[in-house]
Parts: sequence; C-alpha cells; structure tokens
Amino acid sequence: MCGIVGYIGNSDVVDILTNGLNTLKYRGYDSAGVALFDENKIKIYKAVGKLENLKAKLETVKSEIKNPSMGIGHIRWATHGKANEVNAHPHTSTSSDIVVVHNGIIENFKELREELTKKGCVFKSETDTEVVAHLVSEEYKTIGNLKDAVKKALVQLRGAYALCIMSINEPEHIVCARKNAPLIIGIGEGENVIASDIPAIISLTSNIIYLNDEEVAVVKKDSVSIEKFSGESVPLKIVKIAIETDAISKMGYKHYMLKEIHEQPSIVRNLLNGRIVDINSPIELPEIKMSKDVLQNISKIQIIACGTSLHAGQIGKYLIEDFAGVSAEVESASEYIYRKNTTDKNSLVIAISQSGETADTITAVKQAKEKGAYILVITNRPDSNITRYADSVLNVNAGIEVSVAATKSYTAQLLTLYLFAIYLAEVKGVDVSNFLEIKRELLSIPTKMEEVLTTEGDIEKKAEKLSGFKNVVYIGRGVNLSTAMEGALKLKEISYINANAYPAGELKHGPIALLDENMPVVSVLIPGHISYDKTISNCEEAKARNAKLITVTSSNDEKLNNLFDVIIRIPEVSNVLSPILAVIPFQLLAYYISNFLGKDVDQPRNLAKSVTVE
Ligand code: AGP
Repeated sequence: MCGIVGYIGNSDVVDILTNGLNTLKYRGYDSAGVALFDENKIKIYKAVGKLENLKAKLETVKSEIKNPSMGIGHIRWATHGKANEVNAHPHTSTSSDIVVVHNGIIENFKELREELTKKGCVFKSETDTEVVAHLVSEEYKTIGNLKDAVKKALVQLRGAYALCIMSINEPEHIVCARKNAPLIIGIGEGENVIASDIPAIISLTSNIIYLNDEEVAVVKKDSVSIEKFSGESVPLKIVKIAIETDAISKMGYKHYMLKEIHEQPSIVRNLLNGRIVDINSPIELPEIKMSKDVLQNISKIQIIACGTSLHAGQIGKYLIEDFAGVSAEVESASEYIYRKNTTDKNSLVIAISQSGETADTITAVKQAKEKGAYILVITNRPDSNITRYADSVLNVNAGIEVSVAATKSYTAQLLTLYLFAIYLAEVKGVDVSNFLEIKRELLSIPTKMEEVLTTEGDIEKKAEKLSGFKNVVYIGRGVNLSTAMEGALKLKEISYINANAYPAGELKHGPIALLDENMPVVSVLIPGHISYDKTISNCEEAKARNAKLITVTSSNDEKLNNLFDVIIRIPEVSNVLSPILAVIPFQLLAYYISNFLGKDVDQPRNLAKSVTVE
C-alpha cells in the first residue's frame, strides 16, 4: 500500500521518480504525485488514477520544470479521505515550506490536527499525512533545522510511517525516517535514492541501506548520515543486493501474473535443491535455529497469516498434524490480534507472509513475541519488517512477486511447509522411512507442474466458457479445502466474480440452496483418499439442482465425463501433495477469465500487494 521514491543527484529527477513509482505500482494505488525542488521552489504535481495520468500531466507542464536537483514522489492507496487530487501526496505545511510523502497511518492525527488548527495551521486535505507537514513546519520555526525538526515532530506521532521530507530552506538534502513501514536508501555515485522497496532502486544501484525503525536519515547527493530519534549516530551498513531485473520485467508475458504462474516449476525445483539430497536422509533446515531438543517437545503450534498465505497456513496445519502429530491451530492474523489467545513461552508461532509487510501479521508476531513465543517466519522477503521479530526465517525464495494476486509465492510457501512438516516429524522421532515416498514424489513435483502448464491452452478455452457466470461455488475436502478457498479467492480478486468456497460436506447444510443452472460448482477430486468418493457424491447433489459441474482432477475415470461439464486434468499425484498441483489450474482459470473480461489482471481494483494497515 502506497509507495515512496526520493531522489537527489544530477540525473533527470522527473524520470527517476516516475520510473521508480512505476516499479512500485504493484503495491496498489489510486493516485500519484511528485514534489520537485526546482529553481529554489517546491513544485508539486498530482493526478488521480493511474500513474500514466501523472506522467501525462508532467508532460503538459514540461516547460515549467527547469532543472530539479531533488524530488520526492508517491503513489497513494486511499485510507483517510477519497482518492482525489487534494488528498494525493505530497502534502505541504500552511506556508508550503515543508513537503512530505508518507506510507503508513498516523493514528493520533485527529488530536494533532485539532491542536495544529488552533495554532493557525490551515489544512487542505482529509489525510492523516498532512499533520506531519504542519508539525514539522511548526517545529522548524523554533529549531531551524530540518532533521531535528523532523525528529521532534515524529516523537509526537502514533502509528506507522515511512516518510520523505523536503524543506524549501534546505536545498541540499532530503530527510527520511521510518517506524513500522519499509524504507531503503540506495547509494549511488553522486546520487542517492530512497524508496519503499528494491524495484524502485535497482536501475540505479545495488548498494542499499535498510533504514531501521526510529531512525532518521539525511540524504545528500554524495553522502548519507543516519541517527536514531534519540540522537545517537548510526554507522552506515551498506548491503549489496542481487539485482533481480527479470523479476520486474514481464519477460514477454502479457501480465506479471501469467509470468509468475509459469515461474512456479523452477521456483519449486530450486527450493528442493539441496533440501532433499538423499531421500533416505532426514531433511535439514539449518535456518531453524530452535534447538532440536526444544522442538522435540513442542506440543502446539500456532500459524498466523492473511489471505493467500492463510490458505498455505491451513495446509501447513494439515501437514504438521498428519506428518508430525503435533497439534496446530491456524488463524487469520486480524482475528488473532484482537482476542485473548493462549500463546505463551512454550508456543511455536509460525507467521507466513509473502511481503513480510502485512500489518496484521506483524502485529500478531509482535504480540506473540511479547508473550515469549518462539517465532518462525516464512516469507518471500527475508529483508522485510516481519523478520525483525523472528527467531528463525525460512525464505521461500520465489523472487519478487509483482502481480497483486499471489501465485508463485503460494506454491513456494506450500513447498516450504511440506519440508518443515517432514523436518519436524523427523526431529520428533518419526521414522525417516515413513517419508521416503513423499520425498520421492516431492522431487517429481516440478516436472508435474510443468505438465499442468502444458494444458494452459485448454484451460484458456474453458475459462472463456465460464466467464459469463456471476457467482461460482468452490468445494473441497481435507487438504484440498484450502485449494478450493485459494481458487475462489483468485477468481474474486481479479475477475470480481462472486466466488465462495465451502467444505464439500457443508454444501447440504445451507449453500445448496443457492444452486441452480446459473451457479456452477467447482471441485477438486484426487483419487486414493476417502475424500474422492465423498466429494463426487456432493457433486451429484449439486448436479441434481441443475448446477454446472467443473472439476480439477488427477483421475482418469471415464465415468467422470458423464457427471462433469468441464474437466481439467492434472497428473497423477498423492492426495497429500495434490494442493501444490491442483492450485495451478485454478490460478490459470482465474487469470484467463479476468483477461477475457478485460479486467486489470495485475492491479485489481481496491487491492494492494502490501497491506500495511490493520
Ligand atoms: C493474495 O492474492 C492477496 N493479494 C492477499 O490475500 C495476500 O495474500 C494477503 O494480503 C497477505 O499478504 P502477505 O502474504 O504479503 O502477508
């Protein structure tokens, strides 16, 4: 949610800011703006809607922009106040001496706004952010130094923020700061750049500094200095990052989502590499720092996540209980944080988050940590905020995921959970030989995923037929209930078709009342498990109510042809490993329906990739 870019240097400031914002669009936004320090003035340009609208505006005012020496830019995902130009960032103080872009939420903005209004500050927008500009400006009046005024202002704020701030009186630098929201500084030669995330920086430099919570940085053209809010200076820790230029290119695919779906076999293959070297040996996860003695005695695990990561967590619970016999709970982070839960110092809490920025999951992890729990974070961004609270981190290594709809991170999370569940079982003394077959089959999964992808053309045709429905029901049982839930989530996220998932056995306890010829039922059918026959019976019940039936199945049983209107076949796979294959047709189905309906596949309306507010 929201993205920030700041730049100081001799290159084209407008180009760098807009290109940087372009790479952050995946975070979700509904307006954009820049502030340029040009001819000793701060010039601000904003536009509602796509970044292209801002670019078009900048093109029309080209003649008024001379030679900016620095600038800050922002894409906004509306939280306080509508998505309009007034509420778009950057925001200024009453006299416009201070200009600010912000990611996060200032929780006490109402009180601050009242106090500042009494002092004579004139507010223009409905945003929480604007208080920061006024506060800094007020402090500046007495302090006369931007960095110190920022520090003085920030200690008055409650909430989360990543900020870039410029002062009309200080043309040599941008001041930035953060608390509970990501911000990095890219170190170039004779130029420096600030951003919410790596993609906005990699075209300029691979040397970055991760700013920490409650740190403020003064970023000049050829130097950076950082200090804590308390005043203590912070030594610069420059990290060289691997440049993932492929990750932010569509590599010839029409959308990032399609490219990311296709990346899944190689991601899973890489994850398996080195983890299962010999199926007769136990799985090693050196990243798990918890001692094996402690792990052996673990009797309860709590899994916390949101959205797609929550679906991976539900499968994780199934695997941990099935393989290791350890009781596991799984809960949406937004529910966990507002109830009296039973986490204590004997708990192992597994937090799953692709982005590592999800506010609910981070709050849950902080709460669990305060209670003394051991925290294992499973994430695609080992450099993210959430890992600061982790005792161990498992990196799912899926590469930067740009499409808002998660695909490759999900299958990478699943694979990581398979490895962890087997690891836990083996540590707890379950005989290694119990897992020989599963390990052997896991090694074949990447090739089977490739096989599923070869049916893409067929799925595209089927998707076209399904795109006319307004409502769809997904059903699944056991380990594939979550596959059904993930399939439904994908469809609603990117096609806006109302799709709801139920345990197949629940259908007749209510949802069956919805069924008729306009409400297709989509199922997952994997033979070799009791759930297969039971789910077929549930499909029969739906057929009797005239519902069209669609199934994703690894069965070759010809009899299914009489029952189902649409069959999508996946390779033979055991029930327990099937979710990692069965989800791919659902991803493709959602993708092609959305594409056929002409929706914005990669950036669906109202959604943000990183949900940085609770
Ligand atoms: C997935 O398609 C969604 N965009 C969303 O549900 C997402 O999974 C959720 O917001 C959690 O994000 P995280 O994994 O980055 O924490």
